[in-house]
Amino acid sequence: MMKKNFLWGAAMCATQSEGGYLEGGKGLTLADLFPSISEGRWDAIFNIEKAMNTKYQYYPSHNAIDFYHRYPEDIKLLAELGINFLRTSINWARIFPNGDDAEPNEEGLAFYDRLFAECAKYGISPVVTLNHFDTPLALIHKGGWKNKKVIDYFVTYCETVFRRYKDVVKYWITFNEINMVLGIPAVGGLIDPNKEENILEAKFQAAHNQLVSGALATKIGHEINPDFEIGCMIGAGKNYAYTCNPEDVWEAYQADQNEFSLVDVQAKGKYSDYMLSYFRRNEIDLKATDEEMDILRKYTSDFVALSYYSTRLVSSDKKDKEKTGGNISGTLKNPYLEANEWGWQIDPTGFRITLNELYDRYDQPLFIVENGFAVRESPDENNYLEDDYRIAYFRSHIKAMQDAMSDGVDIIGYTTWGTIDIVSASSGEMSKRYGLVYVDLDDKGQGTGDRFKKKSFDWYKEVVRSNGENL
Ligand code: BG6
Repeated sequence: MMKKNFLWGAAMCATQSEGGYLEGGKGLTLADLFPSISEGRWDAIFNIEKAMNTKYQYYPSHNAIDFYHRYPEDIKLLAELGINFLRTSINWARIFPNGDDAEPNEEGLAFYDRLFAECAKYGISPVVTLNHFDTPLALIHKGGWKNKKVIDYFVTYCETVFRRYKDVVKYWITFNEINMVLGIPAVGGLIDPNKEENILEAKFQAAHNQLVSGALATKIGHEINPDFEIGCMIGAGKNYAYTCNPEDVWEAYQADQNEFSLVDVQAKGKYSDYMLSYFRRNEIDLKATDEEMDILRKYTSDFVALSYYSTRLVSSDKKDKEKTGGNISGTLKNPYLEANEWGWQIDPTGFRITLNELYDRYDQPLFIVENGFAVRESPDENNYLEDDYRIAYFRSHIKAMQDAMSDGVDIIGYTTWGTIDIVSASSGEMSKRYGLVYVDLDDKGQGTGDRFKKKSFDWYKEVVRSNGENL
């Protein structure tokens, strides 16, 4: 049932794993200003000026799990899993510390040379996200992604890394979860919501500029190496209607449309008509030239990458409905689903539905580049952790993925997220652990930083070895 060449992987991203936040000539990114949740991370996420002017006690990204120095040990460990790929990101601010520098930073490029060479030693191919919440902070003074000049800066950065790594990276993802720019515009688009007179317009302008830059990057990437596969990415999860009341169904339908709105452009080459009406209805005056529309039409994605954690639940009547947590934003609590401590609900069938829907909609191969289950947990006296709950989560989700494949969905590969414990993007906690490998660090960065395999490590190793046969 599984394709012979199906890819199994591990995943992380630069800001949540590398640390070394000022090493090797790296510039700052917004992530470097965010404290942990206990010091008001969400406040900072929605108020960049505050984040820039506040001195917090602890910044989780500054050292993260020190992947910047410990990557040889980490890659060696991941290689034991027998995986085909490691999804990670290049931190743009390592390559162009201010975003618009005349020349790239050689030390930053050399770091990724070393990292990718280490992967190659074990036959692991890097799958690289070009922008995973790490637009150089200096660009905020130029209006962030709202400014069309940022399109050129991003394209220059992409061209630089495409040329440098053209023989070692095949799969590229332009923007991590592009729909994030609409949900959390600071993180996704370097837009301070407090400073915008018309935040809706600012968000869509930033998104549009990202779409254009991603299409241009796709064009240039293919010119540099025609074998490149350059994909877009959605933070996915079907929106269910709370009841069969048509008003709820319509509300859920619109939530899906909102989720798809940007990937529609990346995969189909144009804004869907419902979006054009949305812009008109909300008097959004998008600055988009005919030339840009032409670029969007011509240079569409080669595949659709996705993260999946859970589905969402939507109602037309929000009164008295219990809420719960979730990726990008919270959602209504689904009485049929269990959830983890952060309220993220567990829904493998929703995964099958989401995969089917995305494939039907875009008719492009899908690439599952994030899936996982966070738990607050600690190992026993032998540094071992029996994380059967995590195994159960993965088993049910991989099974759902296989069901989707037997439904006809074309899937390139699958990876668990945060395969080695990393800093959480939303909470800044180390204790929000997704890993198959435990990292001995707490929420203040205290600990040895040593790595220990959890029970799920050996379980996943067998899944990879048997190409999904032995779950
Ligand atoms: C995705 C992001 O939205 O969710 C990751 O791409 C993030 O960066 C992941 O880590 C899980 O979210 P969190 O907040 O639990 O780390």
